[in-house]
Amino acid sequence: MPPSTFSMRAVGTVHSPYTDRSQVPRGPGAKHDAEGVLEIAPDLEPGLADIEGFSHLYVIWVFDRADRSNLVSTPPTDDRPHGVFATRSPQRPNPIALTVVRLLGREGTRLRVRGVDMLDGTPILDIKPYLSSIPARELRRGWLDEAEERAARS
Ligand SMILES: C[S@@+](CC[C@H](N)C(=O)[O-])C[C@H]1O[C@@H](n2cnc3c(N)ncnc32)[C@H](O)[C@@H]1O
Repeated sequence: MPPSTFSMRAVGTVHSPYTDRSQVPRGPGAKHDAEGVLEIAPDLEPGLADIEGFSHLYVIWVFDRADRSNLVSTPPTDDRPHGVFATRSPQRPNPIALTVVRLLGREGTRLRVRGVDMLDGTPILDIKPYLSSIPARELRRGWLDEAEERAARS
């Protein structure tokens, strides 16, 4: 049997202008253009080699200040509940989050980025280059398209 629990270390920390969840833009049309810094642990600096060539990065991080008990939630973009795995809710069984940021520059172990939606001090689990080979016409957005259409009509 493969293991069903895993231990991981934080590879770094997010420096963000947001200190409280209420400060992070949310709901329909929310724009994420806040700048922040991803500070990577000094012993991992060799792992940042060649990252400057990528315009965007996936940041995999930990919702370290979230409740984990809800499996159904009503997102700020809708007035109807949805299963947690069909949402980006911070309240989920494993508190793992994914954000795409634009890489603005690198100074040693510090990556300056735009598009943070994390609170200051959030632990980072991993960073990967953003690559997508799925054409936009093939993407379906589930309940989100319907919620946006309803909001536009009201
Ligand atoms: C809807 S979640 C989306 C996060 C990520 N982009 C994703 O899709 O997995 C964004 C919200 O997470 C909350 N948040 C940010 N940092 C957090 C942290 N360290 N612990 C718990 N909640 C956090 C903020 O309230 C923010 O509005």
